[in-house]
Amino acid sequence: AEDGYDLWLRYKPLPEAMRGEPRIVGQPPASGSPTLSLAYGELRRGLDGLNPDEPGLDAPSIRLVTPSQSDTIAAFKLSMEGLGGEGYLIRTVQGGRLTVIAANTDVGVLYGVFHYLRLMQTGASVERLDVRSAPKVRYRLLNHWDNLDRSVERGYSGQSIWDWWRLPDVKDPRYADYARANASIGINGAVLNNVNAKSDSLTAPYIAKAAALADTFRPYGIKVYLSARFSSPIEIGGLKTADPLDPAVRAFWKTKADEIYKAIPDFGGFLVKANSEGQPGPQDYGRTHADGANMLAQAVGPHGGIVMWRAFVYSHEQPDDRAKQGYSEFKPFDGEFAENVIVQVKNGAIDFQPREPFHPLFGAMPKTNLGMEFQITKEYLGFSTHLAYLGPMWEEVLKADTFSAGRGSTVARVVDGKLHGYSRTLMAGVANIGTDRNWSGSQFDQANWYAFGRLAWDPEASAEAIARDWAAMTFTPDKRFTGPAAAMMMGSREAVVDYMTPMGLHHLMGRSHHYGPGPWVAGGERADWTSVYYHKADKAGIGFDRTAKGSDAVGQYAPLAAATFSDLSKIDEKDLLWFHHLSWDYRTRSGRPLWDELVSRYSRGVRRVGEMRATWTSLAPYVDPERHGEVATYLAIQRREAQWWRDASVAYFQSINGLPLPKGEAPPP
Ligand code: GCU
Repeated sequence: AEDGYDLWLRYKPLPEAMRGEPRIVGQPPASGSPTLSLAYGELRRGLDGLNPDEPGLDAPSIRLVTPSQSDTIAAFKLSMEGLGGEGYLIRTVQGGRLTVIAANTDVGVLYGVFHYLRLMQTGASVERLDVRSAPKVRYRLLNHWDNLDRSVERGYSGQSIWDWWRLPDVKDPRYADYARANASIGINGAVLNNVNAKSDSLTAPYIAKAAALADTFRPYGIKVYLSARFSSPIEIGGLKTADPLDPAVRAFWKTKADEIYKAIPDFGGFLVKANSEGQPGPQDYGRTHADGANMLAQAVGPHGGIVMWRAFVYSHEQPDDRAKQGYSEFKPFDGEFAENVIVQVKNGAIDFQPREPFHPLFGAMPKTNLGMEFQITKEYLGFSTHLAYLGPMWEEVLKADTFSAGRGSTVARVVDGKLHGYSRTLMAGVANIGTDRNWSGSQFDQANWYAFGRLAWDPEASAEAIARDWAAMTFTPDKRFTGPAAAMMMGSREAVVDYMTPMGLHHLMGRSHHYGPGPWVAGGERADWTSVYYHKADKAGIGFDRTAKGSDAVGQYAPLAAATFSDLSKIDEKDLLWFHHLSWDYRTRSGRPLWDELVSRYSRGVRRVGEMRATWTSLAPYVDPERHGEVATYLAIQRREAQWWRDASVAYFQSINGLPLPKGEAPPP
């Protein structure tokens, strides 16, 4: 049955017209590494599946090449320069009779094989190829928010795929399938456990379990990392303190790192959430983020490991605008972090909203490796039941201009290290993977996992091209399908923005679970977990004033960016109420008063989901009934809930502003 387990690696026979001549593949060299045999195996599997025609004796062939085959490299004058340890080239030589996939390493060859197969899967010609590709970002990681009891924080696709109880002895075949899928999109690391970490994950039994996973992942070029709880020296080390300047604490971490590297020689390093949302951290001892990060960096450094220290920090004791806290806490320490520390920054300053302006730390820390954290799991975008392709959202952030070193200082160029010359670059994605047969909770949520990998490889890639590739690989390369499907995907996130949080509104979801509308949420344990804190609606107007007259969050951006956000005549209306508090009758660019414009966007969001449903119905001829039916059911849920969002939000704001519905707008049923 078509249940989605095969992801974008289905390798179903291509339509005859797209097949081309079948190709011959040689045998892997007897002395080859496990990675090289995987590369050969994948190529065979792909070719056999996509083009089941028998190759003739004189059919064109494909050869996989590493530097040990120096004669081939010399014969075809292959230039391996610039490919680094993970890049590859694909070239057709001998008048089209031979295609070489060459790399400096075996994993580079594996990546090249996946690229070659992707070309076939998407119906591109493979007759005359001249491709070179190398990742622009060094650490391309999934962050699993998986707990040791197999629950997943913000997971909407079943339980954790890590079966901790049966590990290390039982190695579920799914681990290899997971690694293969990741390798196919260039992901080279996985943080196994939740950032809200338990110290248990660093005890001997769990290190052995992590080591078993690392063994499975290794041939696919994937390293294992762990989230570390800062107070571990107390909880599992028998110490009275976790003060990063205490010699016993430093010794604990050094010994712990040595122990881990003994079991996992290529262990990647630690991810840390400290002094945020109640987690322990160096500030508990009057120390700084840099003190904490550098201590851990020193422990893993000799082994080649890194520390990813999260900048998602805020506390309710701090009365300042929550959007300002990350910058305020980190900017002063620029240049004080060790070389093997990467400060990991969420794309926006609040928390993975359907739309946020880019985080002001991007461009503001030229002397500190800064990495990007995206959220693949859709905590604030309707979980796995709403279809929202996140490619355009990530692209929007990556293309945003920080202006920090003049025009063109995009977030992508911060993240790929070019702007500031970072020694280490990182893109992390909070995974949406679980035990559901389809991995991600819905068929279309697989696209977000896929797009994350492709953008981590190349932050300047096009979200639309990625959507087309994914649709072709996952369903069919038939253009009558991929065109409308990709268009539907490209508009889907904007539809969510419209029916949930148009025009820069944010954090209006139900309390704590974040599903469904809750713009009325107020009071409770902390102001910054409520909606009214963010929309500030009253009889007169709506929006969060973050200009110099308000919280002055704009002051954290480079002057040119700040000037644009502050100026009502320049700001893009998509960010309007993020930065400004405006009267309900403020005249928007459409000519409509703000209230009317807001309602029209809410309604537009609902309409767009209706259009998505119609598109999907029209695509039935190209999709197997199982997956088509599943997506259709989810879209029906989304349509109903988009209406719920629109009606509840509009009715709530009416209860505040007392305004009638704009002309032509239907009242809630
Ligand atoms: C969000 C999310 C939490 C998570 C936190 C984080 O606030 O709701 O579940 O722990 O982000 O990124 O640390």
